[in-house]
Amino acid sequence: MNPTLDLIHNHKSIRKFTGQPIAPEQLDAIFQAAQAASSSSFLQAGSVIRVTDQAKRAKLVELTGGQPWVGSAAEFLVWCADFHRHQQVAPEAKLGYTEQLLIGAIDTALMAENALVAAESLGLGGVFIGGIRNHPDEVVKLLGLPRQVIPLFGMCLGHPDQAPSLRPRLPQALVVHENSYQQELDRALLAKYDEQVRRYYQTRPGSAKVMTWSEQVAATLKKESRPHIRAFLESQGFIQK
Ligand SMILES: Cc1cc2nc3c(=O)[nH]c(=O)nc-3n(C[C@H](O)[C@H](O)[C@H](O)COP(=O)(O)O)c2cc1C
Repeated sequence: MNPTLDLIHNHKSIRKFTGQPIAPEQLDAIFQAAQAASSSSFLQAGSVIRVTDQAKRAKLVELTGGQPWVGSAAEFLVWCADFHRHQQVAPEAKLGYTEQLLIGAIDTALMAENALVAAESLGLGGVFIGGIRNHPDEVVKLLGLPRQVIPLFGMCLGHPDQAPSLRPRLPQALVVHENSYQQELDRALLAKYDEQVRRYYQTRPGSAKVMTWSEQVAATLKKESRPHIRAFLESQGFIQK
């Protein structure tokens, strides 16, 4: 259709890298793209920590559940919702409202996705790392994050050393609703998608498995999901008790 859409449609997470560093001007362009994202009330409520210290990197591999690509990527970035900056700009600011948590998370996610798309446009690849929220207290200590700053996710970036296949997305008709929410799930369409995902997993090089999307959803959502997060958000001043 056009090169921007081709790039976006072709997104695949990359977890294996060549070891070649990212050129400083490319990194600069990636951060500039991140900062160009839209921002709620122009608050620009996101920050990013570039982790270049190898000892900190090694610790982050451990804290994110032993994901080797956290250590082997040319760059590892920790994306944070940040109201610490605002507190310094406006000491009278009223913080700790749940809405601000959403603003920080939304602004930062928009920045990070812009960064990944920018990286992909330069022939680089990467992957988000939600594992950064496994032990957020430890991440706060390791990276010296003050109150009003929380790590949302990490991101590996580097030169790809793999060419994974596209992971099929839900049929548009299950995602895009017109005028009102279509509450009744189209089960026939879902079954087709489940089959597509099952085939994707079966033929995926390196890590074949047998699973449909529905089975994956059930397996993921039957477990507790980082129940420590509420107390962590309180301790960083992001929500009130
Ligand atoms: C917020 C977020 C957190 C993620 N966390 C991880 C992670 O910790 N480790 C990992 O290998 N992939 C992680 N991923 C990547 C997803 O698994 C991946 O985007 C998804 O399976 C779709 O595959 P694709 O990106 O190749 O299209 C994360 C993605 C997002 C958006």
